[in-house]
Amino acid sequence: MGPGTLTEVLAQLPPMPTENLLVGLENYDDAGVYRLDAERALIQTIDFFTPIVDDPYLFGQIAAANALSDVYAMGGVPLTAMNVVCFPARKLDLTVLREILRGGAEKVLEAGAVLVGGHSVEDPEPKYGLAVTGIVHPERLMTNSQAKPGDVLILTKPIGSGIISTAIKAGLARAEVVATVTASMATLNREAAAVAQELALRGCTDITGFGLLGHAAEMAQASGVALRFWVEAIPFYPQALELAEMGLVPGGTYANRNFLAPRVQIAVDVAEAEQDLLFDPQTSGGLLLAVPASREEECLERLAQRGVQGATIGEVHGGPAGQLFVVRHR
Ligand code: CO
Ligand code: CO
Ligand code: CO
Repeated sequence: MGPGTLTEVLAQLPPMPTENLLVGLENYDDAGVYRLDAERALIQTIDFFTPIVDDPYLFGQIAAANALSDVYAMGGVPLTAMNVVCFPARKLDLTVLREILRGGAEKVLEAGAVLVGGHSVEDPEPKYGLAVTGIVHPERLMTNSQAKPGDVLILTKPIGSGIISTAIKAGLARAEVVATVTASMATLNREAAAVAQELALRGCTDITGFGLLGHAAEMAQASGVALRFWVEAIPFYPQALELAEMGLVPGGTYANRNFLAPRVQIAVDVAEAEQDLLFDPQTSGGLLLAVPASREEECLERLAQRGVQGATIGEVHGGPAGQLFVVRHR
């Protein structure tokens, strides 16, 4: 189901009572947020997918880091997690499942959360992920609707994990690239989120399946702003551009690109392969933070101190609302 048709289906659901609903379906934000009282709001999210690497333990780590990320992207702290498992128990050795779940459980522990249960279904194709519940002070909530004109956009992981995953399956990714990218995908967004909280940032989303520009478009729409990106400032994983130039592009890239076409203007001097990477579906991507320009340096320094390679990749403009622009330079 493409994003367009999913939007139509969601629009047909009955309206939900909004009294305590701080974040619902309307802005396609990273998670739902429900206020419990003046000091606490519940964050709920779920994410699961088919294996993107051969190593089941690593796949479990990546899938869990990806699911936990939506809590971090809302400014929250993960409390509990539940396994979501599809597995062909009659065809695949159970040691594979054990390794997937071990990888996931270790990430949950690393996040300071507790695994409390789950649900599994017999399915020909393995899938794994988590449903995660987190908590946030309502005043510390980060959403994709709080990017303000004058903010710069800081990204906390490189782009290109979709194309590298495709290259892994085709046997075309270099070993050291696979190691770099899988380690990055398995890294929690916890440290980046901690910096966002230290700086009291409020505009944030994480970059996953709709690609950099897909999630940026949601932010632009929800915030009523335009976003301008500088392609030369966007960090790509090693070998990603080379693979895109070879034409090795995941199918999701074209789906994202077609869906976003009316909302994106790209300068003529941005190469085709660079454009493809901007729409590349990411797994467990970084946070995209809207940072007041006066705090840019401080934000990058604090990220670096926590071992996060942040990069300023664009800026927020007053309008037209929902539009994205991509140019070469700052
Ligand atoms: Co998300
Ligand atoms: Co998600
Ligand atoms: Co059940």
